[in-house]
Order: sequence, then C-alpha cells, then structure tokens
Amino acid sequence: MSDLDALKTEFLSAIAAASSLADLDAIRVDALGKKGRISGLLKQLGGMDPDARKQMGQDLNILKTEIAEAITTRQIVLADEAMAEKLASETVDVSMPSRPQRNGYLHPLSRTIEEISAIFADMGFTIAEGPDIEADYYNFTALNIPPEHPARQEHDTFYLQPDETGARPVLRTHTSPVQVRTMEANEPPIRIIVPGRTFRSDHDATHSPMFHQCEGLVIGPNIHMGHLKAVLIDFCRIFFGVDDLPVRFRPSYFPFTEPSAEVDIGCSREGGGLKIGAGDDWLEILGSGMVNPKVLENCGYDPEKVQGFAFGMGVERLAMLKYGIPDLRTFYDSDMRWLRHYGFVPSDVPALHTGLTG
Ligand code: PHE
Repeated sequence: MSDLDALKTEFLSAIAAASSLADLDAIRVDALGKKGRISGLLKQLGGMDPDARKQMGQDLNILKTEIAEAITTRQIVLADEAMAEKLASETVDVSMPSRPQRNGYLHPLSRTIEEISAIFADMGFTIAEGPDIEADYYNFTALNIPPEHPARQEHDTFYLQPDETGARPVLRTHTSPVQVRTMEANEPPIRIIVPGRTFRSDHDATHSPMFHQCEGLVIGPNIHMGHLKAVLIDFCRIFFGVDDLPVRFRPSYFPFTEPSAEVDIGCSREGGGLKIGAGDDWLEILGSGMVNPKVLENCGYDPEKVQGFAFGMGVERLAMLKYGIPDLRTFYDSDMRWLRHYGFVPSDVPALHTGLTG
C-alpha cells in the first residue's frame, strides 16, 4: 500500500469513528488545514521532478476531495444525530395534565361594594371618600349630635387621644361625616355614594369592630321624599335581583335626618331558611331620611333653597343576605378555603359604569 493509500485509510477510518462534530473538525484541521498533513505534502511537490510531481499532484487532489466529501457526509450524520438526541431529551409531553392554576379571588365585600357602586353609578351617582380617623365635629356635632346627645352613647365609639385643643378624634362610627365634608366642599346639586370602613366597639356573630357602610347623599332644589323612595326601591330590587321585591319605609329616628325611615324588604323565614322577596316577613336593610335642615345649615346651605335625602347601609349585612354568608366574623379571617368558596373570579365582576369618578 502506498503512503497515500495508508493516509487515506487512516483519515477515512478516523472520520468514520468521529463521534462528535468537534472531533470531526479536529480531523479536518489535521488533514486539510493550512498546517495539515495533506497541505504539508502539497508543499513538498515543488521539490519533485516534473513527472512525479504531476502524478503526485493529481493523487493528492483526489485524496483531498475524497476526504473533504467524507467529512461532509459524516458531518450530516453527526448533525442529525445531535438533533435527534436534543429532540429526545427536550420532549414536551403535551398529553400530561397541567398543574392546577390557583386564581386569586375577589373578596365578597369588594364584590358587594362594586355591585352597589355600579347600581348607583347607573343612577348618576359618583363616589366620595373621607378619612377613617374623623374629627368629633364631622362624626357627631355637624350631624346634629351635639355633646351629651344620647345618640352618642349608642355609637360605641373608639376615641383617640385628645389633641392640643382637647378635642378627641374618633374612628368614624358611620360614613355620614362624609355627607358634611362633601357639602362643605361643594355647591349643590350633589349626588354621591360613600363606601368605606367604619368602626364600633362591638364584637359578636353579627357585629365586628371594623365593618363597612355605604352612605348616599342627594342634594338639590326640590328634592323630596318621593325621590328617596324611588332611588331606594330601585336599588333594593336591582341589588337582590327581584323585580317585585316588597320594600317598606318604616318611620324611625336619626338626628341628621327628618323625617327618617328605616327600609325593610320582604322575606320569609319559614323552615329556618331566609328567602328574600317572598313571604310576609320583613328584614331591615338600611337607614334613610330627608337631610335635617340643621345639617344643611351647618354646611352653609340654605334649607329654603335646597333639600335632600341621605341613606346608609351596612355592606357586610347586604353581602351576608345576598350570598348566604352566616357569620360576619368570617369576612376578616383571611381563610383561603372560605375565600375560594364565597369569593368571586374577578372577570365575573361587571365593569363599573363609565360615569363613575374617583
Ligand atoms: N349613619 C346611620 C347609621 O350608621 C345610617 C343613616 C345614614 C341613616 C344616612 C340615615 C341617613 O346607622
């Protein structure tokens, strides 16, 4: 066997044995690279006599081509193998069941506040807010509950340390102070609701020291009791989804409204269960009344020129009634099992009316 045949055999078997593209490239450099062995032989041609050089030149070129082709062929095989291996190791089993997705839930209180807001937004109300820590003046005095007024005792108020003037700020016991703040800061007409946190020192299955109310206030020339009744009857029927829900206005007393009425809805308690909209029983759900002229005056309004009505409802109570939640305290336990049971998927919540402003 000539030297060239031996070289050819050596390279071809090395190429066949190459197990990676990197190995193969090393063989290519060794054979055909600038300093490779075949290139070395080609350089020696210059020193040969013409006949031998011609023959040797042809043989070397054939060898070069054969080796280059063998390398290309082996390259394709190795690249295919590498791809097959990659595909096998990175396989995605699309038939595998996916991991369960844990969605976040909307708390029933958030959902209820959104529902209340959406209903009043449709009637042209906007949302107003006020501070949780309130001046005694806004929580009581301006609402016609002066010092020593017996109604103050009923509020189970959380008082804070007195300030320099001796006045004791309070955790607001209702959302009604925002009525006064809104009237002080705005000219009539006014049409607002005020969802927010309220506080009373009381704790059992139906009372929590922190709870939520939604206040309402409408002020304008010629606003009368008929408007109050229409708005609240509509609200109750839409909120509970019962078109012919019986709604009753029962005379009551609040220092800041005159006359005042508590609003009851028809229900049945037969068989231990509560059914809204049927039967001949009544369930109290909110307080309301015509804004007391003294309150209008306290806010700088002339009761001869503008009148209005106000109402206040407990958000927890409405949520418990609508969604059958038996114990008020569970609202604040942050128990994920409870939230998954009573919570709402956010996308189910109706978009708020565009008329709402912050
Ligand atoms: N603020 C009253 C309460 O907390 C509710 C209410 C609001 C009554 C507005 C009449 C008018 O019980």
